[in-house]
Amino acid sequence: MASTFVRRLQGKVALITGAANGIGESTARLFTKHGAKVMIADINDELGEKVCKELGQSSASFVHCDITNESDVETAVNTAVAKFGKLDILHNNAGIGGKANPSILEIEKSEFEKIINVNLVGAFLGAKHAARVMIPNRSGNIITTASTCSKIGGGSSHNYVSSKHGVVGLTKNMAVELGKYGIRVNCVSPHVVPTRQSKEFYKMDDEEFGSVYSILKGAFLKPEDVADAVVFLASDESKFVNGHNLFVDGGISIANSKFCMFE
Ligand SMILES: NC(=O)c1ccc[n+]([C@@H]2O[C@H](COP(=O)([O-])OP(=O)(O)OC[C@H]3O[C@@H](n4cnc5c(N)ncnc54)[C@H](O)[C@@H]3O)[C@@H](O)[C@H]2O)c1
Repeated sequence: MASTFVRRLQGKVALITGAANGIGESTARLFTKHGAKVMIADINDELGEKVCKELGQSSASFVHCDITNESDVETAVNTAVAKFGKLDILHNNAGIGGKANPSILEIEKSEFEKIINVNLVGAFLGAKHAARVMIPNRSGNIITTASTCSKIGGGSSHNYVSSKHGVVGLTKNMAVELGKYGIRVNCVSPHVVPTRQSKEFYKMDDEEFGSVYSILKGAFLKPEDVADAVVFLASDESKFVNGHNLFVDGGISIANSKFCMFE
């Protein structure tokens, strides 16, 4: 029997940062499939415009936005409202991995601050300006892309791990404040997904990603799987989920390979 596709975001308007590529691009594609209008906000104008064109002018629009620049973020939120009439969802997704610096002794202060500035301060600015237009409507939904590095130590550099723990703290605090306006605030935490950022950081190809970073036989994490989780958090199916960090990691963050009897 053929199943009916249900558009879970019909009539919704979303702003997605870092949607020119990778996880954000997959979310933008899936959001429009589910009936949402999306504002793509990114520093990569060429790729952002390309994704937008492929999705169609009536479903998607592009705005240049560096999430570390408050006036860019303010403009992106205002442009989404001007173009599509409101803002229901913010997917605070843009982020960077930076350099792999295994030792605390090797990280320059400027490199530490750079990652915190994009991954944590950028997420704060997105949430602040989205909340500004969501509070008067007494509804909204803010989802930040964290990482399994928001829970596990040792998976990435000190600056990246700190930034991802930081967004979870910010999410919990905002969930408490914004809940009283009917605004839900959550995180999605993928494990390693083959995208431009992770390929540069881990220096691996698609096949290696699947074999090294999965404990689920035959299942390999793709950007589309993360997008599915974001649609769940953005839709009414998760209407009572608030302040949550949803792991999309095949269970790897609950396993400890050094203390395991199932090898
Ligand atoms: N790929 C992974 O393995 C993985 C795992 C866990 C979490 N994440 C997180 O997922 C998010 C997306 O990463 P991705 O893997 O899709 O990376 P990606 O490099 O494929 O895409 C990131 C996008 O963000 C944009 N961007 C970078 N800096 C920006 C800025 N200052 N302002 C606006 N846009 C900016 C880039 O231009 C790019 O389009 C990040 O927050 C990342 O930390 C990634």
